[in-house]
Amino acid sequence: MRIVVLGSAAGGGFPQWNCNAPTSHGVRTGSLRAKKRTQASLAVSADGERWLLVNASPDFRQQVGDTPALWPRGGLRHSPIEAVILTSGEIDHVAGLLSMRESQPFALWAAPPVLAALAANPIFDALNPRHVERHGVTSADPFPIAGPGGALGLTVTAFPVPGKVPLYLEGQAGSNLAGAADETMGLEIACGPARFHYIPGCAAMTPALRARLRQSPLVFFDGTLWRDDELITTGVGTKTGQRMGHMSIDGPDGTVAAFADLGVRRKVLVHVNTTNPVLDEDSPERAALTASGWEVAEDGMEIAL
Ligand code: MLT
Ligand code: MN
Repeated sequence: MRIVVLGSAAGGGFPQWNCNAPTSHGVRTGSLRAKKRTQASLAVSADGERWLLVNASPDFRQQVGDTPALWPRGGLRHSPIEAVILTSGEIDHVAGLLSMRESQPFALWAAPPVLAALAANPIFDALNPRHVERHGVTSADPFPIAGPGGALGLTVTAFPVPGKVPLYLEGQAGSNLAGAADETMGLEIACGPARFHYIPGCAAMTPALRARLRQSPLVFFDGTLWRDDELITTGVGTKTGQRMGHMSIDGPDGTVAAFADLGVRRKVLVHVNTTNPVLDEDSPERAALTASGWEVAEDGMEIAL
């Protein structure tokens, strides 16, 4: 199984267009040792020929351009991307669908609340159902993911994780900002005996999630913020990580502590926000993170399992 990190930043990317916080400013001007990153997305393939896209980022077009495995091959119109699966309805996970509207056949897989959000927004009708079949994903048994050309050789298990409704649905959500149980999903993707987990958004570690991740060979996990109050202390915003549906990396309830005894072989942060100090490769936070056995995903990172 081949896995390519197409994008590793949170919504907004790194640097974010309107952000002048030290990390954003530093990578923009070259005064920090840090790498630019596009918004989080993953490509996965059993055979290196036919690919599954995990989330369709607003940076989809640039990501395909930067990834030769995803370039058209045979015929005048072709794409190796045969299926797309969404882990949430967040803008940074679905906006790329609008850049996939050129009558290209592929299968779209998502949980019912995400499909409902797409169905309620007529701009997504640009994905003509004659070319793009939409399939519901439930948190049930593993299923073989397929595109128009048949099964991709990848087995997907979707499971709910604590999260939040997309920003544009907060007004309709009332006091239930967490939304439906399957509003935010994590995925296990397997190819024969090889398997890994992809969880770009998660508000809390639960006993069920701990049990699922124990001894995983590879987990990509929500690396949005270093600290829950990072936007506030940086001075760029008023929301906590918890309010945005993201657990933080540091602290007693943070990701590093939560994974300490899970026996996960390889741990990689994705969906990293532009304010996060771990993006600065010379920061003490990055050194502490590395010392605790974690990596920070970079665009173009490739892993073979
Ligand atoms: C998030 O993950 O919190 C969202 O991407 C935020 C957003 O949509 O701006
Ligand atoms: Mn996001």
